[in-house]
Amino acid sequence: MNKLKHVALIVDGNGRWAKQRGKIRSEGHLAGSKMLERIILHAARNTDIEVLSLYVFSTENFKRDKDEVKYLMNLFLKWFTISGKKYRKDNIKIIFSGRKEPLSDEVYNAMKKLEERTKDHTGLIVNFCLNYGGRAEIVDATKKIASELKEGKIKEEDITEEYFSTRLYNKLPDVDFVIRTSGEQRISNFLLWEISYAEFLFVDTYFPDFDEKCFDEAISKYYNRDRRFGNAKK
Ligand code: FPP
Repeated sequence: MNKLKHVALIVDGNGRWAKQRGKIRSEGHLAGSKMLERIILHAARNTDIEVLSLYVFSTENFKRDKDEVKYLMNLFLKWFTISGKKYRKDNIKIIFSGRKEPLSDEVYNAMKKLEERTKDHTGLIVNFCLNYGGRAEIVDATKKIASELKEGKIKEEDITEEYFSTRLYNKLPDVDFVIRTSGEQRISNFLLWEISYAEFLFVDTYFPDFDEKCFDEAISKYYNRDRRFGNAKK
């Protein structure tokens, strides 16, 4: 049986979901945020997944209309400020991956506080990828390693794939399964290092309609895959 430790979800289709219903984009994001909460609680309560990574805002998303970015930042701020209690009840540990700049201090501090408040929780790890880019993560890890090398803390031969992995934003198991909603079939700079051997599933459903049943269906598809990690078929 394939192990499933780390699921990575590309949350996509909020805008189209709203447009389809004659609503504005922010209503799509609000509906998406409500579904996201359901999926997180479902994963924590009813699955044995260890890590759920969520692509909620890429570095490139800052190029969007400034009102949309402002709406999303306010939604993040509200969410991360009020959700500590809920996560305690479900033993969920929240972590973040991404760069600080150009996030506001207010949003960044709320993220750091939430990480701090949930750091001893031992259940599902939810990794919010916010102001995240896969290439940026690799560059940032490379810079850390370069300065360690320069300061004489490590030698060139210490730089292995395993070592490199420890210098990424968070120490997590490799991604086993990537799910992208909304019918788009691309990776959009998500967890580029971590997905080397991941399985992929692209579903047509827009994220605000991607409920617990859709999530379970996706997971069951993963278990039907034949993962060989470069080995021959037995
Ligand atoms: C992609 O859909 C979605 C985003 C860029 C934002 C994701 C945000 C949420 C799910 C809600 C907020 C989350 C939290 C944690 C409060 P899109 O806007 O690109 O959709 P489109 O491709 O149909 O336009």
